[in-house]
Amino acid sequence: MAYTVPKLKDFSAAALEKATKKLLSALDEEAAAIETEPDWKTFRDRWMARKDGVLTQVNDLWLKAAPKEAKRHAGQQVNEIKKRVEQAIDVAQNRARGDSASRLDSDRLDITLPGIQRPIGAEHPVIKTMNEIVSVFRNLGYSVQEGPVIETDYYNFEALNFPPNHPARDTQDTLFIANQESKPQRERLLLRTHTSPVQIRTMEKIKPPLRIVIPGKVHRNDPPDASHSPMFHQIEGLAVDTNITFGDLKGTLDHAMKALFGSSVKTHFRPSFFPFTEPSAEMMVSCFICGGSGQRGSEPCRPCKRTGWIEILGCGMVDPNVFEFVKDNGYDPRKVSGFAFGMGADRVALLKYGVDDIQLFFQGDVRFLRQFA
Ligand code: PHE
Repeated sequence: MAYTVPKLKDFSAAALEKATKKLLSALDEEAAAIETEPDWKTFRDRWMARKDGVLTQVNDLWLKAAPKEAKRHAGQQVNEIKKRVEQAIDVAQNRARGDSASRLDSDRLDITLPGIQRPIGAEHPVIKTMNEIVSVFRNLGYSVQEGPVIETDYYNFEALNFPPNHPARDTQDTLFIANQESKPQRERLLLRTHTSPVQIRTMEKIKPPLRIVIPGKVHRNDPPDASHSPMFHQIEGLAVDTNITFGDLKGTLDHAMKALFGSSVKTHFRPSFFPFTEPSAEMMVSCFICGGSGQRGSEPCRPCKRTGWIEILGCGMVDPNVFEFVKDNGYDPRKVSGFAFGMGADRVALLKYGVDDIQLFFQGDVRFLRQFA
């Protein structure tokens, strides 16, 4: 039978408390039975309705009807009841709202289900290769420097001894930032085409002697194909001291190639040209795929195009004209000399892992990348 508020004849403390207890246990019982929103609304109205709700009746029958000497105690009881009713209505509402359907799921948590797997990432093969190259040079006492990918004409070209109309400044290769025409040429922004500008930036900051490697991202306006990408990675090296010779350059790079590709590879230098080195060279390593023979069994060796040699980097002795730009920081071309080199990190990664398309490195296909994890 549903609870009804009794009229009280006895307003003693004990009688009031007994009546309160009965009311609260009815409240709890009705609240516990609520499952849906319509249930809850009925419940709320039964207890709270201004006209004839349980609370209104309690107010009339227990408080207003109480004799003077019992008013105080009755007031306390009624306040307590009000608080409990409001609470019960709140709790019941939250439960009813957790809507009837999903309540089943949330009530039954199956702790034996497997958890959510969040696979940890792995180094990208190009980054991994760059780290390996860097660590070879760190072991020789080189430190690491970095510089901005958006560079000025001054650092990318001018201070590296590119004459004003050198073809490398042409839009054929360089990606320029738009709307720079109002600036003087040397301040115009572009995407660096090599990591060599960081040579200048570092020599402006740090006095000689210097031994650094510079890993980083570079851009050139090359259409993408199996061996070209408009964005790729280089590792630059620079050593400056008194009496640095071409012999130091050869010895250092020969050691580095053996550390990277195995102790049996040979190095080979042939003359080349860069505006910021003199003399300049291209360095080849003997093909570590075919061992330098140019053949794989009866097949021609593809990575070295059956020549037995693979071109790996550009290098040379720092041109005195370059030192002129940083002379004020201790780089007097009559006192110091140095060598520099720059290699394509993506190319090294292609060779190391036997990948035949550079685009695979940048397409972000996890099926490809997972193989290097
Ligand atoms: N910066 C040159 C390039 O990108 C490579 C290089 C670096 C050559 C240092 C010589 C010395 O082709």
